[in-house]
Amino acid sequence: MSSTDIRLGVNIDHVATLRQARGTVYPSPLDAAKLCEQSGAHGITVHLREDRRHIQDADVFALQEALRIPLNLEMACVPEIIDLALTVRPAEVCMVPERREELTTEGGLDVAGQRAAVFPAVQRLASAGMVVSLFVEPDLRQLDACAESGAPYVELHTGRYCETQGDEQVHELRRLIEGAHHAHTRGLKVNAGHGIHLGNISGILEIPHLDTLNIGHSIVARAVLVGMERAVKEMLAALRGTAENGS
Ligand code: PXP
Repeated sequence: MSSTDIRLGVNIDHVATLRQARGTVYPSPLDAAKLCEQSGAHGITVHLREDRRHIQDADVFALQEALRIPLNLEMACVPEIIDLALTVRPAEVCMVPERREELTTEGGLDVAGQRAAVFPAVQRLASAGMVVSLFVEPDLRQLDACAESGAPYVELHTGRYCETQGDEQVHELRRLIEGAHHAHTRGLKVNAGHGIHLGNISGILEIPHLDTLNIGHSIVARAVLVGMERAVKEMLAALRGTAENGS
């Protein structure tokens, strides 16, 4: 796939983080998702974490109801969230590891070591019509297990590449390239994500067979900056309005 064909899935979790920080109703993840859709995003990703630290159940239902582009639900392989996915039925689900104390998803899912839990979950979700992806490190043993699970997609964890520099980063990129080749050879479609921003995406584009890149934190962070000028001007206009009304 040439880089012009790669799809962008926008992860809007941190719009909800901002909302949850104050317990307000704004900013609305649904409004943000609609803006992503209008701007050409190919999909919206949310992670319904077990601790509900950002995205809430109601967000997932509202997004599934309102979006025209596919919703990709990132989820832990646990009964409560699997049941919710089976109720909402988003177009895509991506199974990820989850630890409550982590800041963000650390490491990939141990599909090879957790076959007994992951394989039946893949089958249940796929039988209900969802496109299933497994978020894994670019490790050949894990990718073989993903192929055995019957999931059509893997999402390669790009975090290590994004967090390292120099020789270490070159090594991590090589692992991602080899991993993507291997996944493709095993018949898997290849997504990738985690930690990608405007400064490191050029290396990511060297990974072959990419279908979708899921990018969240850097887009939401950038949106805060590119939107700041307008937000301040709007508030100044409101202030002037108030002053004029009161005079
Ligand atoms: N893909 C997966 C499976 C993730 O868990 C995350 C983070 O929620 C992302 C992509 C997006 O990562 P980032 O927010 O660093 O762009």
